[in-house]
Amino acid sequence: MGFLSLASVLFFFFGVKVYCQYENYQWDEDYDQDPDDVYQPEFQFNQNEDFQVPFHQYMLGCATECFCPPDFPSSMYCDNRKLKTIPRVPAHIQQVYLQFNEIEAVTADSFINATHLKEINLSHNKITSQKIDHGVFAKLSNLVQLHLQHNNLEEFPFPLPKSLERLLLGYNEISRLQTNAMDGLINLTMLDLCYNHLEDSMLQEKILAKMEKLMQLNLCNNRLESMPPGLPSSLMYLSLENNSISSIPENYFNEIPKLQALRMSHNKLQDIPYNIFNLSNLIELNVGHNKLKQAFYIPRNLQHLYLENNEIENINITVMCPSVDPLHYHHLTYIRMDQNKLKEPISSYVSLCFPHIHTIYYGEQRSTNGQTIQLKTQVFRRFQDDADSEEQEDHQEGPEQEETEENTGPHYYGSQEWQEPM
Ligand SMILES: *[C@@H]1O[C@H](CO)[C@@H](O)[C@H](O)[C@H]1NC(C)=O
Ligand SMILES: *[C@@H]1O[C@H](CO)[C@@H](O)[C@H](O)[C@H]1NC(C)=O
Ligand SMILES: *[C@@H]1O[C@H](CO)[C@@H](O)[C@H](O)[C@H]1NC(C)=O
Ligand SMILES: *[C@@H]1O[C@H](CO)[C@@H](O)[C@H](O)[C@H]1NC(C)=O
Ligand SMILES: *[C@@H]1O[C@H](CO)[C@@H](O)[C@H](O)[C@H]1NC(C)=O
Ligand SMILES: *[C@@H]1O[C@H](CO)[C@@H](O)[C@H](O)[C@H]1NC(C)=O
Repeated sequence: MGFLSLASVLFFFFGVKVYCQYENYQWDEDYDQDPDDVYQPEFQFNQNEDFQVPFHQYMLGCATECFCPPDFPSSMYCDNRKLKTIPRVPAHIQQVYLQFNEIEAVTADSFINATHLKEINLSHNKITSQKIDHGVFAKLSNLVQLHLQHNNLEEFPFPLPKSLERLLLGYNEISRLQTNAMDGLINLTMLDLCYNHLEDSMLQEKILAKMEKLMQLNLCNNRLESMPPGLPSSLMYLSLENNSISSIPENYFNEIPKLQALRMSHNKLQDIPYNIFNLSNLIELNVGHNKLKQAFYIPRNLQHLYLENNEIENINITVMCPSVDPLHYHHLTYIRMDQNKLKEPISSYVSLCFPHIHTIYYGEQRSTNGQTIQLKTQVFRRFQDDADSEEQEDHQEGPEQEETEENTGPHYYGSQEWQEPM
C-alpha cells in the first residue's frame, strides 16, 4: 500500500467520523460540489414514455408543465424545464421543485391557493428582489423550507412566514437586509447566506439574535471585517470562511456556548486572545489560511484542528495544554499544520497532553529565507489496531510525500473531510 492509499485510509477514517457527527445538518451540501457539475434531476424524464396518470391527479390537478409522481402526489416537479414563470401551484401540493429554470419573478397568483406548501425549491433561477411580490411567501403559513440559492437577489427576502425552518440564500448578491428582516423567524434552525455581499453594517443591532432556534449560520464568502454580533445562544455551527475578519473580541463566544464547529479559514486573524476558543462543546475548529503567529488554548472536547497556512514559528505546548488532568483527557485526534513556519515537530509532550491524538500533518513548512522544508507526518500508533499501525509505520513517509499535496490542496477539507458520504 503506497502512501496515497494510506492517506485515503486516514482521510476515510476522519471523513466517516466527521460525517456521522454532522449528517443531520448537511453543513456543506451546497458548497463543496464542483460548480460545473452537470445537474441530474431527481426524476429522469423520458419524453416518449406514456405515463399512466392516475385518477386522483386529474382530480387534484398538476400544472401541465410539471410532473406529480403518482407515488408522491403532494410533490410537483417542475425543475429543469426552461420555465420563465412559476406555474400555478394546486392547493394540495406540499413540495414544489422549480430549481434550474429561468424564472425571474415570484408572483402572488402562482401561490394563491397553495396554503399547504411546506417546501419550495427555487434555486438556480434568475429571481431579483424587486420581482418578488410583497408578502408572497409570508402567506404560506406551513412553509418549512425555502431554497433561493443561486439567484440574483440583492436584498434579504422579507417578510417570511414564521413557520420557516431552513432558509437557503447562498450565491446571490444580497447586500441589504431590513433591520426587522429576521423578526418572527422563531423556528428557523438553518440560515445560509454564504456567497453574498454582506458587510458588517448590515448585521448590527442584534438582528440575528431574534432567531432563537438557529443552530447553523453560514456567512462564508461575504465581506465581513468583524465577527457578527448578537448571535443567538442556540447556535452550534458557524461558518465564516473567506471574509476579512481580523480579530475576535474577548468573551465573544460567551454568548454562543453551544458552539460545536467553527469555520474561519481564509480570514485575516492575527492576534487572538490565547484562550478565546475555550468552549466546552467545540469539536471542530478551522482557522487555516489566516495570519496567526501563536498557538492557543485547546478546549477539552476539540477533535479536529486546522491551522494550515498561518505564520506559526513554534508551538508552545504549554499554551495549548496548560495542565494534564488524567480524569478529563483532551479529545484532540487530528492537527493539520502545513504551510506554517515550523522548524521542527511539536514537542513529544503533545501525546501526553492529547492522548487521543492520531495524526499531525506538517507537510511543507516555509522558512524566513523563502525556502521550504518537509516535516514528517506524525502518526501515533498507540490507539490504532495493530494491523493498521504496522502499515502506517512502514509507509508514513518518503519521497512520495510530495504527492500528498494533491490530497491537501485547497479543496482537501471540503471534499475529503465532509463530502464523502461513504
Ligand atoms: C382556489 O381555490 C378556490 C376554492 O377552492 C377555487 O374556487 C379557485 O378556482 C382556486 N383558484 C385557483 C387559481 O386555483
Ligand atoms: C433544491 O435544489 C438544489 C439545487 O440547487 C438541490 O441541490 C436540492 O437537493 C434541491 N432540494 C430538494 C429537496 O430537492
Ligand atoms: C414552530 O415549531 C413548533 C414545533 O415544531 C410548532 O409547534 C410551531 O407551530 C411552529 N411555529 C410556527 C409559527 O409555525
Ligand atoms: C475568497 O473570495 C474571493 C472574492 O471575495 C475569491 O476571489 C476567492 O477565490 C475566495 N477564496 C476562497 C478560498 O473561497
Ligand atoms: C476555560 O473555561 C473554564 C470555564 O468554562 C475555566 O474554568 C477555565 O479556567 C478556562 N480555561 C482557560 C485556559 O481559560
Ligand atoms: C510557553 O508558555 C508558557 C505559558 O505562557 C510560558 O511560561 C513559557 O515560557 C513558554 N515557553 C516558551 C519556550 O516560550
